[in-house]
Amino acid sequence: MAQACSLKVLALLVCVSFCSFNEAARVPPEVTNNFNVGSYGVKADGENDDTDGFLKTWEAACKSSSTVKILIPPGNYKLGPITFSGPCPNVTTLTIVNKGTIKASTDLSKYKSDAWIIFSKVTGVRLDGGTFDGQGVATWSQNSCSKKKKCQALPVSVKFINTNDTVVKRIKSVNPKFFHMAVIRCQKFRASGLTLDAPEDSPNTDGIHIEKSTDVKIADTAIRTGDDCISIGHGNSDMVIARINCGPGHGISIGSLGKYDYEKDVKGLVIRDSNITGTSNGVRIKTWEDSPVSTVVANITFQNIQMTNVSNPIIIDQMYCPWKNCGTKDPSKVKLSDIRFSGIKGTSATPVAVTLICSKGYPCQNVSLKDVQLKYINGSDTTAVCSNVKPSFAATALPKTCTAPIATVSSAAEDLGI
Ligand SMILES: *[C@@H]1O[C@H](CO)[C@@H](O)[C@H](O)[C@H]1NC(C)=O
Ligand SMILES: *[C@@H]1O[C@H](CO)[C@@H](O)[C@H](O)[C@H]1NC(C)=O
Ligand SMILES: *[C@@H]1O[C@H](CO)[C@@H](O)[C@H](O)[C@H]1NC(C)=O
Ligand SMILES: *[C@@H]1O[C@H](CO)[C@@H](O)[C@H](O)[C@H]1NC(C)=O
Ligand SMILES: *[C@@H]1O[C@H](CO)[C@@H](O)[C@H](O)[C@H]1NC(C)=O
Ligand SMILES: *[C@@H]1O[C@H](CO)[C@@H](O)[C@H](O)[C@H]1NC(C)=O
Ligand SMILES: *[C@@H]1O[C@H](CO)[C@@H](O)[C@H](O)[C@H]1NC(C)=O
Repeated sequence: MAQACSLKVLALLVCVSFCSFNEAARVPPEVTNNFNVGSYGVKADGENDDTDGFLKTWEAACKSSSTVKILIPPGNYKLGPITFSGPCPNVTTLTIVNKGTIKASTDLSKYKSDAWIIFSKVTGVRLDGGTFDGQGVATWSQNSCSKKKKCQALPVSVKFINTNDTVVKRIKSVNPKFFHMAVIRCQKFRASGLTLDAPEDSPNTDGIHIEKSTDVKIADTAIRTGDDCISIGHGNSDMVIARINCGPGHGISIGSLGKYDYEKDVKGLVIRDSNITGTSNGVRIKTWEDSPVSTVVANITFQNIQMTNVSNPIIIDQMYCPWKNCGTKDPSKVKLSDIRFSGIKGTSATPVAVTLICSKGYPCQNVSLKDVQLKYINGSDTTAVCSNVKPSFAATALPKTCTAPIATVSSAAEDLGI
């Protein structure tokens, strides 16, 4: 005790002689403003709707300043559709620490927009932890988007729209009604340590859909779902997807593209160091025929990906048509160039491991396969089927060369046409 006291005295003396001359010590400590949903009428009994309490907590936090924290203590929360919107002008970062399980309302008439939990027009959100249960099981039967082109989409579980400097960590999403997560028009978006879970046969439950965003990094994430693990839509650039465990699901897809007249280019993507297991596709680029505008998909790298029993491990499909007859005539106007497949290894569930069906109007440019080693699941060699593309094969590639397609590829019928 006495020794501890004298140490304190010593520390004080040292501080008096040094700290007052230290510029940094004069900077006031950063203020953290804490907001607990429990103080805003939230019941957390899993029965009463907590939407109001969550909104009030957000409003208070957003009006606050500097470093802000919202705490969601352990418990079961029932939440209807909700929009956490900014701007929060005096907030630098707003961290939501979620220790609870949040369940979505199953009353579809409550959902006026396309998502359940929306973060909009806000900078500096940090969403950390917790479980988001979309309660999709009860509503999947009402989804018609898996069967026809014109349909009413069900709500996405967690959507970020127009957010900058966003970090999402360690969240678990189960049984979304539609996608687990959507990232739309975001700049500087980071996600890691996510677990996204839905049954293999759940319709349109894409893991993460990204559109019109730049500077996106998604890493260390496990996705088991009924549609694409990650789908990368139009208008994206500067993106790294790394250390993903995908499957079951439909793999990691760029597209579909070339459906709408407002679409923009996709450039500068790296998808690497991942495992794809038991999925219908591995890494895929899909574009519709008859595209209303011409766009570019360029500078795309797929690297170091382990495939296990994947039906189409490598696939470019520029005649994408998820339904029997898309009624298309003109070739796709989406121009693909600088597409690299490197270190793609493992097993294919079909004898054709590589399918490169490019547009006859705009043949793919600079497609390379390097160190591709894909065996059929029974140990036999696989083949590559190509049209309107002259890919370069590095020496060790397996399959080693292209053959012309016998028939057009048939995409997974259960895909949503987006
Ligand atoms: C932000 O801080 C400024 C200056 O302190 C203040 O005038 C303004 O009302 C604050 N804005 C909000 C939304 O609280
Ligand atoms: C995000 O950043 C972009 C580009 O700097 C800017 O145009 C946009 O208004 C920002 N959004 C928000 C919500 O601050
Ligand atoms: C992929 O699988 C290998 C072998 O099981 C494992 O060592 C590696 O950590 C896995 N990668 C990821 C991102 O989980
Ligand atoms: C290709 O994309 C990578 C990764 O986003 C980027 O670092 C590189 O500069 C891009 N190359 C070109 C030629 O644009
Ligand atoms: C491979 O996948 C097919 C379905 O695509 C499945 O029927 C088969 O059991 C799987 N084989 C192994 C060894 O996992
Ligand atoms: C293809 O690659 C070559 C050599 O790297 C380069 O000169 C050319 O511009 C590229 N073409 C396209 C369409 O990217
Ligand atoms: C694997 O299956 C294919 C197609 O059924 C067959 O042609 C081939 O001989 C099989 N290879 C082995 C090693 O069993």
